[in-house]
Amino acid sequence: MKIALVTAIAAFALDDDLAPLADALRKAGASVEILAWDDFSVSWKRFDAVVLRSTWDYTERLPEFIAWCERTATQTRMLNPADVVKWNTDKHYLADLADKKCPVVESVFIEPGQTPSSFPDYAEFVVKPAVGAGSRDTQRYLAKDRMAAVEHVKRLLDQHRAALIQPYLAEVDTKGETALIFFKGIFSHAIRKGPLLQLDEGPTNHLFAPEAITAREPGGDELEVAHKVLAAVPFKSLAYARVDLLPSSTGPMLLELELTEPSLFFDHAPGSAERFAASLLGS
Ligand SMILES: Nc1ncnc2c1ncn2[C@@H]1O[C@H](COP(=O)(O)OP(=O)(O)O)[C@@H](O)[C@H]1O
Ligand SMILES: [Mg+2]
Repeated sequence: MKIALVTAIAAFALDDDLAPLADALRKAGASVEILAWDDFSVSWKRFDAVVLRSTWDYTERLPEFIAWCERTATQTRMLNPADVVKWNTDKHYLADLADKKCPVVESVFIEPGQTPSSFPDYAEFVVKPAVGAGSRDTQRYLAKDRMAAVEHVKRLLDQHRAALIQPYLAEVDTKGETALIFFKGIFSHAIRKGPLLQLDEGPTNHLFAPEAITAREPGGDELEVAHKVLAAVPFKSLAYARVDLLPSSTGPMLLELELTEPSLFFDHAPGSAERFAASLLGS
């Protein structure tokens, strides 16, 4: 089986998961190439499967990326599929999941063309773009800094980007965020991510903010929420999924569902790259 692992020209050297996954796939008998989605010299139809991994710059050029996914999906098997990517690269999917009764971090969307007057009244909150990754353009504010937050929202709207306002769930400061990783719906491993947003710090200028990652055994309540979220996804048979949960006084809440290009943190879970390889080759 010929597999392409897909990164971006800007992310080639940043993705720690590529080498262990390529090794595991080769040991299991596959032939593997690591290629960038934005390398237009690549012929994707040479591969039996094209697995999205670190296409992390798509947020700056989403229409181009979606067009690439749709085109590539006509030539080979895309994992995850293009319709999943289209749904998952815009955090409006959080509203779909909340409608399906999943516990989602409360999210107020402001669309381009709207005025940010409908600003919610949280004591502490986060402004982020609906299409974003790696904490870029994401910032935490106190209620007293509302004017700066309104400016932030306006900046995003002026760039024709929808914005998202959420209460800051402060339990992340002590307990961290939990990311649960699934292959074909089967739980593989989890990690803890330390809090990322400081009050006194502007948004990151890097492709992603530096993250403090450690291995974590998920709680039963976290596994339950993650399964509920996956069951509510309007697409079946996901090759991979990462469910990011924040702790709250009412239990774990969905912050983000990563079905496009999640880091899978193989280095923190021995055997996990081999599990993903076996899952991919078993399909
Ligand atoms: N509502 C929130 N409460 C607490 N922390 C948050 C909240 N929203 C975002 N964060 C912090 O910002 C990081 C990035 O936000 P996230 O929604 O995961 O967007 P991205 O797509 O950029 O990863 C999270 O990992 C978390 O540390
Ligand atoms: Mg995130």
